[in-house]
Amino acid sequence: MPALVLLGAQWGDEGKGKATDLLGGSVDYVVRYQGGNNAGHTVVVGDQKYALHLLPSGILSPGCTPVIGNGVVVDPAVLLSELSGLEERGVDTSKLLLSGNAHLITPYHTTIDKVTERFLGSRKIGTTGRGIGPTYADKINRVGIRVQDLYDESILTQKVDAALDFKNQILAKLYNRRAIESGRIVEELLGYADKLRPYVADTTLVLNDAIDEGKVVLFEGGQGTLLDVDHGTYPFVTSSNPTAGGACTGAGVGPTKISRVIGILKAYTTRVGAGPFPTELFDEDGEALRRIGGERGVTTGRDRRCGWFDAVIARYATRVNGLTDFFLTKLDVLTGWEQIPVCVAYEIDGRRVEELPYSQTDFHHAKPVYEYLPGWSEDITKATTFAELPKNAQAYVKSLEEMSGAPISAIGVGPGRTETIQINSFL
Ligand code: GDP
Ligand code: IMO
Ligand code: MG
Repeated sequence: MPALVLLGAQWGDEGKGKATDLLGGSVDYVVRYQGGNNAGHTVVVGDQKYALHLLPSGILSPGCTPVIGNGVVVDPAVLLSELSGLEERGVDTSKLLLSGNAHLITPYHTTIDKVTERFLGSRKIGTTGRGIGPTYADKINRVGIRVQDLYDESILTQKVDAALDFKNQILAKLYNRRAIESGRIVEELLGYADKLRPYVADTTLVLNDAIDEGKVVLFEGGQGTLLDVDHGTYPFVTSSNPTAGGACTGAGVGPTKISRVIGILKAYTTRVGAGPFPTELFDEDGEALRRIGGERGVTTGRDRRCGWFDAVIARYATRVNGLTDFFLTKLDVLTGWEQIPVCVAYEIDGRRVEELPYSQTDFHHAKPVYEYLPGWSEDITKATTFAELPKNAQAYVKSLEEMSGAPISAIGVGPGRTETIQINSFL
């Protein structure tokens, strides 16, 4: 089982950090393949809580090599501060590998992200403001700056000049902002070069060799399937591919090397930022999910929008990712409801629809069709086997599994590493 992908099956914040950390002890490499510090992955180890944004969650497992792949966008200031923050807490970060082909988020990308959102007004995406979209846009427009450019001052200067020649016109003429001086950006970027040099590597070569040698490599997605720029609720998405194919392009590993794809699935649904969300709740149940689930963004501190489980989305995640397993998280949060609504289909303009509609207009009009499953009131946070769960909790999990199209191989019953019921091994 050498290469596994672990990704979000919904709109992010499903508990990917916890799931990755759980596997970290048994894998050799944990690789981020897309996104950047828009991610916020929480890992709880004993009484210590870590919030990781750019670093793969495997960094907390000694023996595991963390890798930032070519598909990630890297804010060097954030990376260095995350590294020093972990070192201060006694975490060894020296093994980190950073792809020389990863693109850099610069101060002009974050500025453009923020002013664009302001300009969009009520049509805004609700981005994290971390410069993610503008950096990927530059990559695709072939005017991006890569990690390797830090080591050739002349190339770096030419590239920053070229990028800013154009962007300053937009900043000044469209957004009425002061132009950004190219020399200042080059100087700032060069200041990171020596600090990052020990980590820079040909990560594609390292990872392919590792897989060929039978080492276990885990690809950790940021965000989630419905935030994917191709397969998500466009335009209310992030600017990369969190779906399984993204692991191949974002790390330089062929699809034939991937043996397992694990979808992290919350036992209910949350979303941060704008965009359609059929099962969203605006009543006290939504408030209760937010309160009990601690549904507040790790990166921006925004309250997460909350709603019931949506099996249409889970089925879609199985389809577009080729999921082999689910890791169902936060089942404990549902303790105490007499009955739990689960969305099994949508009603769109009077029709019952079983699959996620590809049309944005249809999805905006989708109304959830609910089935009501019996709840449970017993505390489940100490359960370590499936059999220890109350009968109704077992039935809830089994129903979700049947509706979602892949086996539920693990269940989260609390935020801690040990608060997990493992049903099938992932390795
Ligand atoms: P990620 O972005 O997918 O890594 O998820 P976040 O860290 O943004 O949000 C998930 C939150 O749920 C974090 O606060 C986790 O500590 C917490 N969490 C993860 N799994 C469980 C679980 O099974 N039960 C409970 N109660 N909390 C969990
Ligand atoms: P993790 O990895 C939840 C959302 C933002 C916004 C949209 C675009 O912790 O699950 P961006 O800054 O990426 O251009 O914003 O995507 N978003 C997330 N929502 N979890 C995340 O990451 C997210 N990363 C981005 O809220 O709606
Ligand atoms: Mg998160």
